[in-house]
Amino acid sequence: MKKIKSLIRLLIFIIPKTVIAFKYDLFRWLRFSLRDSDRITKQQRQAKLLLNLHALEKGLSFPDPREGWGYQKAFLLSKYTHKYITDCGIDDLARLSVGVLDAFINDPLTGKSETLIHNVELLKQIGIEKKDLIGGVKFVQKDLINFNFQELYNVASLRSSVRHYSEKDITSQEIENAVKYAQTAPSVCNRQACKIHVFSDNFNDILDVQLGNQGWAHKANKLFVVTADLNFFGSVYERNQPYIDGGMFAMQFVMGMHVQKIATCCKMYIRKPDLDKKFYIVTDIPKNEIPIMLILAGNYSDEIIKVPHSYRFSSTNRTVNH
Ligand SMILES: Cc1cc2nc3c(=O)[nH]c(=O)nc-3n(C[C@H](O)[C@H](O)[C@H](O)COP(=O)(O)O)c2cc1C
Repeated sequence: MKKIKSLIRLLIFIIPKTVIAFKYDLFRWLRFSLRDSDRITKQQRQAKLLLNLHALEKGLSFPDPREGWGYQKAFLLSKYTHKYITDCGIDDLARLSVGVLDAFINDPLTGKSETLIHNVELLKQIGIEKKDLIGGVKFVQKDLINFNFQELYNVASLRSSVRHYSEKDITSQEIENAVKYAQTAPSVCNRQACKIHVFSDNFNDILDVQLGNQGWAHKANKLFVVTADLNFFGSVYERNQPYIDGGMFAMQFVMGMHVQKIATCCKMYIRKPDLDKKFYIVTDIPKNEIPIMLILAGNYSDEIIKVPHSYRFSSTNRTVNH
């Protein structure tokens, strides 16, 4: 009897709801993800540039590359960059793209042609001075990592999810610092598709479309929504990557807040199609950005406060040697 009830529940409630939610995600993915099409958005163009230029940066960093490598990618990048600058003007990405192409043609082992060299020269003449070129390779050295494991562990283990805040405002400088720190997170092909949307007052309507404030979230000084832009992700095997990049970005943002002595608590984004639709209306977040999570934050109050212990199990159970 119990088994039949469970089967009926599965067939009548769980499967239909799940199918609707997956279908909703599918249509969003098909609508906003990166595709080979002439009608693409600025972000999709940026993603294409980043994908290609990052492949070249990796090639430039290899100790023993194949002679004549990378020609097709560099040629494609020069074409994309030209179109990007013509349509969108010169920005950091244009400088980066031309910078990488410049590093590429100046590397003795890369694949070149007269046309490619000419294309890169043309791009530079459009208005990017040599001193403004960015990207290529940089040098790293282990001796510069001058802190130890225990120091980092102490910083991280002093963070707890805090659901009680003072009324003191979080400053825009503090937010900018935390974003800057979040940007140190790695992202797939360095696509940097994540953003932080900041809501200062009256975010109750946002919480309302996210199953409410749970008795604490409305007391925060700021509500942050971490998003990842689907325009930056393409092939079907990348379909979950926005959540991965977004999660890493969010974690770094939380740590950026933590080291400035600002309390935070993440709040799960409720992925129900009807709530999702309402969420976009109340937040005015562009539909190509998917919410990763909410982060509530505020300054600590002066008194000592209680938080859930949130015990961590032994780290040995988390290591599986193969
Ligand atoms: C993505 C994410 C969603 C979360 N959602 C909620 C939430 O909806 N409500 C809540 O009270 N805490 C939420 N938390 C906080 C967790 O309960 C908390 O991180 C966990 O218990 C570990 O505790 P600690 O952060 O103090 O180390 C969330 C955390 C994460 C990472």
